[in-house]
Amino acid sequence: MDRPYVDWPAQSASPDVVIRGRHRLAETGLFDDEQLMALFDRYDPEQLRVYRMGDDHHKLDEFQLGSRGELTAGELLEAVKAGRLWLNILNIYDEHEGIGQLVDDVYDELEQKVPGFRAVWRSANLLVSSPRAKVYYHADAPANLLWHLRGDKRVWVYPRDERFIPQTWLEKIYTRESDDDLPYEPAFDAHATAYDLAPGEFVGWPHNSPHRVDNLSGLNVSLTTEHYTPEGMRKRNTYVSNRHLRKWFGLPIRSTSIDGPVPLAKRLLFRLARRVPGVPLAVEEHDLEKFSLERHS
Ligand SMILES: [Fe+2]
Repeated sequence: MDRPYVDWPAQSASPDVVIRGRHRLAETGLFDDEQLMALFDRYDPEQLRVYRMGDDHHKLDEFQLGSRGELTAGELLEAVKAGRLWLNILNIYDEHEGIGQLVDDVYDELEQKVPGFRAVWRSANLLVSSPRAKVYYHADAPANLLWHLRGDKRVWVYPRDERFIPQTWLEKIYTRESDDDLPYEPAFDAHATAYDLAPGEFVGWPHNSPHRVDNLSGLNVSLTTEHYTPEGMRKRNTYVSNRHLRKWFGLPIRSTSIDGPVPLAKRLLFRLARRVPGVPLAVEEHDLEKFSLERHS
């Protein structure tokens, strides 16, 4: 590692609180226009997801997947700067050597700095979005850290109890039966807390907290790193086991405790049962493309 990238706040890495601080990831130069266009040019189109949205975050179905069509890298960047688009560049951790190394450097640094923190599974996506783009209400399966690099944005974080993220929906997020979707009511907003992010700042929220994002100004570039700690992985495996064991055996399994002999037995039973030929795993859901940028639809 060349130098520390993260000013971690004095607080601990408790999984139950929002963490904010400063970082120096942009000093690598990896997120400048030239680098972004080089990345757009060579990235697998299947992994460079283009979305558009309306201006009302209450209308979740206006957030739609599309395609860049034949747009060149420069045209795509201009379309993002001028429009209302959100590019989710998937698997950047595996697909981009420089950024993948940066993500490892950052997590290695956090493991050294933060007592007890271990990111045993790591991933990252690069987000490039329009000055007024929005990401609607949702929750992610892994834990997130949002490293903001360019532009200004506001992140709204909601409580993670049964009202805001029902257990069965979180199970479906973990099994990929749902594409991070959650039932949403406008009344939820009164319970959210907003955090403004400028370039060089990061935020992390409690694992699986529902959230949404409003961009405020400028081309927005953020790196979202995703991880599982050993505890987070046990939580994931417990939810996945609950869902499948209920389906396969009709058992009323709903406890979300992750430690102790019973949760361990459930996870072992799930791992054994999934190897039996003919036992169906949950079917993953994927969005369909609804527009193409080159058709100006
Ligand atoms: Fe998210």
